[in-house]
Amino acid sequence: MKKNKLGKQTTNLMMAIPNHDDFSRELFVQEFIWKINTEYVNKFKNLFPNGKVSKNSVNLIDVSNQRKALLDNSSGKIWSSLRRIGREWTCEAVGPTVEKQLPDLINRSQSLITKKNKLGSIKLNNNMEIPRYINVDIHLKPGGYFAELCKDDIFAGAEYERTTYLNVNGLFGPKMESLGEVVSNWVKIKNKFYKPKRILEIGCAIGQSTLAWAKAFPDAKVYGIDLSAPMLRYAHSRAESFAIEVHFSQQNAEKTNFKNNFFDLVVSHATLHETSLKALQNIFKECYRILKNDGMMIHNEGKPFRDLKPVDRIIPDWDTHFNAEPFISKMRSIDLADLAHKSGWPKSSTFNDYADELVNKDFKEINDNLNAHYILVGKKKLT
Ligand SMILES: C[S@@+](CC[C@H](N)C(=O)[O-])C[C@H]1O[C@@H](n2cnc3c(N)ncnc32)[C@H](O)[C@@H]1O
Repeated sequence: MKKNKLGKQTTNLMMAIPNHDDFSRELFVQEFIWKINTEYVNKFKNLFPNGKVSKNSVNLIDVSNQRKALLDNSSGKIWSSLRRIGREWTCEAVGPTVEKQLPDLINRSQSLITKKNKLGSIKLNNNMEIPRYINVDIHLKPGGYFAELCKDDIFAGAEYERTTYLNVNGLFGPKMESLGEVVSNWVKIKNKFYKPKRILEIGCAIGQSTLAWAKAFPDAKVYGIDLSAPMLRYAHSRAESFAIEVHFSQQNAEKTNFKNNFFDLVVSHATLHETSLKALQNIFKECYRILKNDGMMIHNEGKPFRDLKPVDRIIPDWDTHFNAEPFISKMRSIDLADLAHKSGWPKSSTFNDYADELVNKDFKEINDNLNAHYILVGKKKLT
């Protein structure tokens, strides 16, 4: 892989590139987090019985009790504090770099999104109501996804691009497109002649997975929605900087303004766990409404608790309590296919699968470390 100023991460026109000292601090934080999340966690996890994958529904009180037992142990306490510190440091390392360059980044964003021959579009909604479930300092990021520091702000997006890369030690790939790549590969392998004409990604954030879908199906018209204006501005400028056409809009996936039967494919990556039980049901209903009669939805998330050993449930549960992602544990305890059925999808039209089992083994490390390739699939028309 070609090395550039950010190591293995591919730079783009919209990215805030750190100076030498800031970059060296970022690299330290990246290494620190990775050690805590792999070597250190494996050492202290050995102090606890592994338990077995249950395949049955998992009681959240049991998960909570396991986490508490672990945090009563001195190694567990140290691990927990270091993990929390690492998460806070990521924002502290990246934030100032973005802030220093913000006026320049906004100028770049504006020139990309106001140019005459641009390919995609953006529609923002000044009256957007941000649901309570996401209006938190998510991942300990001050101001979360929604802080607007100034006019035409893109801070949250620019910060997200680097903090996410550091937090997963680059495992989402040099352009952070691997979730979209894995799931679109799965679609292609499973459905050889499938040619979706309109694709929507809900919770598109900075649009990195959206671009993977646009590349996988270059004849499709691709849309991305999110609740956050600064993330969407960044996503739009970033897509234009790669000369890829995507149509972004600021919308709540629970109730969008798309027409009935509009999309062939609706996808999400790492978004459902940032919502709520009620919102999930609304999102499944909305997907059903906006999909064509032979349309398909695919939601990509981390492994459900029932597919994890008890000791491996502790980390997602830790994130629920200490990384400001309040819905993770609940979502991982739900059978998503069953919930989609309860939200109006015909019983046998939804199923759970693992996208990475069919595709490139290069993604094995991602799944071993992040358990990132679980999918819920819903096919509107029963086949
Ligand atoms: C972790 S990010 C998604 C990352 C991205 N999809 C990827 O592939 O890496 C979750 C995003 O979902 C958005 N989101 C959460 N609830 C939403 C909702 N109800 N409607 C639209 N977007 C939502 C958040 O604003 C956030 O940008």
